[in-house]
Amino acid sequence: MDQNLYAKINQETDIVSLVSEYVDLTKRGKNYMGLCPFHDEKSPSFSVTPDKQLAYCFGCHKGGSPINFLSQIKNISTHEAAVILGKRIGITFSNEPVIKDPLENLYNLMKDASSFYQFALKNTDSGKIALDYLNQRKIDDDILNHFEIGYAPDQVDSLYKMLRSKKYSVTDMMTLGLVKQNEEGIYYDVFRNRITFPIKDQKGAIIGFSARALNKNEKAKYINSTETPIFKKGEQLYHYSDSITSSIKQKHVILHEGFFDVIASYKAGFNASVATMGTALTSDQVKLLKRITNHVVIAYDGDSAGIDATLKVIPLLKNEKVNVSILNLPNKMDPDDYILKHGKEKYHKLFDKLLDAYQFGYMEYQKGRDFTKADAITAFKKDMQYLLKNADPTIIDLYERKSFDELGIQLLIGNNYSKLPIKEKQIPRQMINRAERAIDTILINLLKENKYYHKIKDNISLTHINNPEKRKLYKDLLYYYEINPNTALDINLFMQGYSKQTELIKSYIETTDYKNNLLIEDDNQFQNIFKHITDYQIQLEINSHIKAIEVLEDESKEAYHLKQIEQLRKQVKNI
Ligand code: UTP
Ligand code: MN
Repeated sequence: MDQNLYAKINQETDIVSLVSEYVDLTKRGKNYMGLCPFHDEKSPSFSVTPDKQLAYCFGCHKGGSPINFLSQIKNISTHEAAVILGKRIGITFSNEPVIKDPLENLYNLMKDASSFYQFALKNTDSGKIALDYLNQRKIDDDILNHFEIGYAPDQVDSLYKMLRSKKYSVTDMMTLGLVKQNEEGIYYDVFRNRITFPIKDQKGAIIGFSARALNKNEKAKYINSTETPIFKKGEQLYHYSDSITSSIKQKHVILHEGFFDVIASYKAGFNASVATMGTALTSDQVKLLKRITNHVVIAYDGDSAGIDATLKVIPLLKNEKVNVSILNLPNKMDPDDYILKHGKEKYHKLFDKLLDAYQFGYMEYQKGRDFTKADAITAFKKDMQYLLKNADPTIIDLYERKSFDELGIQLLIGNNYSKLPIKEKQIPRQMINRAERAIDTILINLLKENKYYHKIKDNISLTHINNPEKRKLYKDLLYYYEINPNTALDINLFMQGYSKQTELIKSYIETTDYKNNLLIEDDNQFQNIFKHITDYQIQLEINSHIKAIEVLEDESKEAYHLKQIEQLRKQVKNI
């Protein structure tokens, strides 16, 4: 029986309009072509042949009859797909044994609760205040209906009473976290005087609510349904079931933090919009996303919490081979704020300037970091190394260069660095400045005290200092301490008897570092200063070997210089 019905359904379904729900089709002769919804591709290999009632991909070989297509794309059984398509053309499976879902009562209860909230929003006096609030936030009737937004009245037990009248059991109401019992045994509604957002599962059944306070004095802005037999917050994404079709068709989904942001994006025309509902993205949620698309656009709030959350989400998605783009929202705004302030056209423009995960990480990991400090450099390197962990070698190479050229920082991921082509590098300004400042610090320190004299003398040679005046001053200082060991430096004595670098000395003792005693505090800081000086020196040496190769007449000497370069690069790594 079923087989006959399947054949009839496959025969009579309008396959072009069915597939069009998920794929943008272009007519080619008698057939239609589009980008395959089952795999990632740039040129269309998915074809629809109405004559044969087939929708099939020549690339990944998925698809088939209308029933097969729908069951594959919705991840449901063939029978479920047949029932859905049958309904559309008036075929029902009448002889089907009715299997009652043991949780059906719970689902029905949620549905009735949602209808009640929706009714209360539009038909009660206190609901009017909620409605005004929503209207003032530019949420109109279409949006209210699409998102099934409602209002939980400001009464102790209005939902409870309604559900009782429909003969639902109190146990079920309590199981679903909608009703509680106080110490006197009185039942009361959990959500009161709040705007309600129903949360649905992947099939579109309502399984929970989140409710937003209207009163600013409420402690919690949102309260959510507790975990119930049908609701596990970490396994759901807000607006997921309503996003499936558009996500597949548009080949991306936008991931938000909050309900109002999903609504705002939806209003702006981005139907494929979901939200995490205030918690960190879980691996279950990543799986949900992966089922419908291979490209996630993160549209978290532009404040520091949102940026931190974005940086945490990136590796979770990247590790699952999901492409990630980031919407860069200015001035700590969330998508809802942005659209209200600037309108949807401007919002659309932001999507032309999406950043990839590496661009975003590279930019954010620099913020608030002072790269004259070793700790900041180490932290930046660690963050970048993590970000680039599974990246393509050419991407790693790109960021090795960018970090070096723009920040003077060598990421040194894997062995890539030693394989970089031999080409003279313009030494970044930052690296030169850091070395220069480090030398100043050394000289100012010696002008003041002898505490680090031995350490400095043992580690820093005259050749480390390029500037002739500074080099001379350094030499004079070393000489002074040799003659006058174990004493603080007498500046007058030094200027009269030891050094002619008067201008330089005067400029140093004018600095706040000198006056405020901001000298070398510990070995760590000394190491840091030493590293800045040697980094620069090594880079200069590498460049001189490269230059030597470029002007080399005797080719046999090239190997020598290459070997030197290799060793110097290793040295950089080991510092
Ligand atoms: P936001 O505080 O950013 O809220 O929290 P929002 O979505 O921008 O809401 P409006 O614009 O202030 O009205 C982001 C999300 O975190 C969850 C909710 O899912 C919210 O949408 N959240 C927030 C909670 O679950 N509980 C809270 O108390 C606050
Ligand atoms: Mn908001």
